[in-house]
Amino acid sequence: MSARILQGDCRDVLAEFADESFDCIVTDPPYGETSLAWDKWPDGWPAAARRVLKRTGSMWVFGSIRMFLDNIGEFAGWRLAQDIVWEKHNGSGLHADRFKRVHECAAQFYRDDAAWARVYKAPQFTSDATARTVRRKGRPPHMGEIGDSAYRSEDGGPRLMRSVIYARSEHGRAEHPTQKPIEIVEPLLLYACPIGGTVLDCFAGSGTTGVVARRHGIDAVLIEADPKYTSIAASRIENDAPLLSRVSA
Ligand SMILES: C[S@@+](CC[C@H](N)C(=O)[O-])C[C@H]1O[C@@H](n2cnc3c(N)ncnc32)[C@H](O)[C@@H]1O
Repeated sequence: MSARILQGDCRDVLAEFADESFDCIVTDPPYGETSLAWDKWPDGWPAAARRVLKRTGSMWVFGSIRMFLDNIGEFAGWRLAQDIVWEKHNGSGLHADRFKRVHECAAQFYRDDAAWARVYKAPQFTSDATARTVRRKGRPPHMGEIGDSAYRSEDGGPRLMRSVIYARSEHGRAEHPTQKPIEIVEPLLLYACPIGGTVLDCFAGSGTTGVVARRHGIDAVLIEADPKYTSIAASRIENDAPLLSRVSA
């Protein structure tokens, strides 16, 4: 497994890669919603990312509804597949006249010249099903006879992972102001990246995508404009100790 960390503007760095170089993209762009110096949407990055993604691949993009609507034209050439909600344990909004904001979103896109049926996907499961029995009616002979059937699940058995995913935010222990938790990046990466594949993150920050990729033996190319964060990403990936980080959480 290798993690390459490249410093620079992702639009310039991506120009060095051949068409269809990557199996999937998991990325967390600047939302353009804070006063942080780097928090400005880089025009044109979705088009640059599209060129280097395989037609069998897909791209998960973290963001807010506001971010996606403000930049909707930037997603020309992409089709929306699905979205998930990351539910946090605490809020990040500062507006006293709105709902307390305790979530962010991630949307999955695929190229508009690709067929969804051929896009790689590995549905994720959790082991928390409630026991139940689903009975299916039989079909009469003129419709192609199919007999009655019953499907039983067990308490604690597997079920499809829900699209609202709870994960504690990294508030108070992060090395980057908008660092994403491993637990929210992990199911998205495993859903979208085939075994032996390579993931691209155009906005690596502290390298969370690289940490998850390394844990699962997936190759990663991480691009980050700020050299301070490329060093942090390299150190996190190098020193990642899954058991210790779970204990300290
Ligand atoms: C939302 S943060 C990513 C945080 C990351 N997901 C993590 O867990 O640490 C976005 C990052 O994109 C970087 N950035 C902003 N514009 C960029 C550009 N044009 N090319 C590459 N990186 C850029 C910022 O420096 C910032 O670290």
